[in-house]
Amino acid sequence: MATARGVAWHALQRIDQQGAYANLVVPGLLAGSRLDERDRGFVTELVYGTTRMRRACDALVDRFVMKEPAPEIRTLLRLGAYQLAFADVATHAAVGETVELAPKRSRGFVNAILRNVSRAPMIWPDEATELSYPQWMAVLLHAELGDDARPAMERMNRPPPVTVRDDGYTQDRASQWVAASVRARRDDRVLDVCAAPGGKATAMAGSGAHVVATDLAPARAGLVHANVKKLGARVDVVCADGTAPPFAPATFDKVLLDAPCSGLGALRRRPDARWRITPGDIDELASLQRRLIDASAELVRPGGVLVYSVCTVTAVESVDHPVPAGFEVIDDEPAGTWRRFRHGWRVLPHDDDTDGMVLIRYRRQA
Ligand SMILES: C[S@@+](CC[C@H](N)C(=O)[O-])C[C@H]1O[C@@H](n2cnc3c(N)ncnc32)[C@H](O)[C@@H]1O
Repeated sequence: MATARGVAWHALQRIDQQGAYANLVVPGLLAGSRLDERDRGFVTELVYGTTRMRRACDALVDRFVMKEPAPEIRTLLRLGAYQLAFADVATHAAVGETVELAPKRSRGFVNAILRNVSRAPMIWPDEATELSYPQWMAVLLHAELGDDARPAMERMNRPPPVTVRDDGYTQDRASQWVAASVRARRDDRVLDVCAAPGGKATAMAGSGAHVVATDLAPARAGLVHANVKKLGARVDVVCADGTAPPFAPATFDKVLLDAPCSGLGALRRRPDARWRITPGDIDELASLQRRLIDASAELVRPGGVLVYSVCTVTAVESVDHPVPAGFEVIDDEPAGTWRRFRHGWRVLPHDDDTDGMVLIRYRRQA
């Protein structure tokens, strides 16, 4: 029967070599395994942790590797190095049980490398390697956050806490603050433009507002529908493109635009995200966000509210976007642990152990 480390290695090979998503591969492999609860937790920690710390693990290992090993052995060395350097695992178990997984012909090699990793103190060449971020991302986070970059990056290397709403839905606390900042009230007509999987739409519906939730992708709109049904929430779900919404202008009291973004504030939730995103993606997302803001603004009635949010912390995806014509900024402090960020508000991951986010609220002139 496969051990926890064996399942983790299998998952990591799919992620490293086939570009699979960690948060899809792990549940799939666990469903087909016969591991107990404790081992399932261990597999998740090993796969998520090794994926987040991939660059640091490679640096630990590369001090002793003369010739690049086969891809599956590279992945196994990462898994071993992760246990030795970052997980609460005894050295003999980390080395012994990882070596055990290797094919016979590679065991001597894996054993020698991992023993060296366990013994030789590491001198990190730079912070991006030590904290395991792509160089460009570490540079960008420093430019945006200054002294807050390091604590933010450290916090995003740890798994997020599980926070559950009164209605049983699991949602990050900063996401809950964003939904609350819309101040949806009974009988308000509220639109959630980018709604999947429906966390904020269902939260807003709790007020008795009439919430319409749209999302571009049919499968994702289906996720909203499933969550709405599970929670018994009053939300109409429509599959639609937010840049060309199928609604008459000025017909909503409140519009929430929780825009697609680079997710640089929520990296702890998606272990492989840091290795996927490119600087070019950020430019494309920023331009999509502007189109979504323009189209969403049209839908707000005079005197109504537009709330913009992203789970990233950079200006280019938030406060650099122009205030929509005919709107003014709502300036009072929203509930939650927000810091002022020009005309918006920002929370960093280490401020209150939430995802990092930016929130901007506008009112349409009457
Ligand atoms: C940040 S997520 C939304 C999270 C959601 N508000 C919640 O709290 O559960 C962004 C969503 O935007 C959707 N999306 C991307 N482009 C879109 C577009 N042009 N129109 C509508 N939705 C879009 C994505 O499918 C994704 O589900």
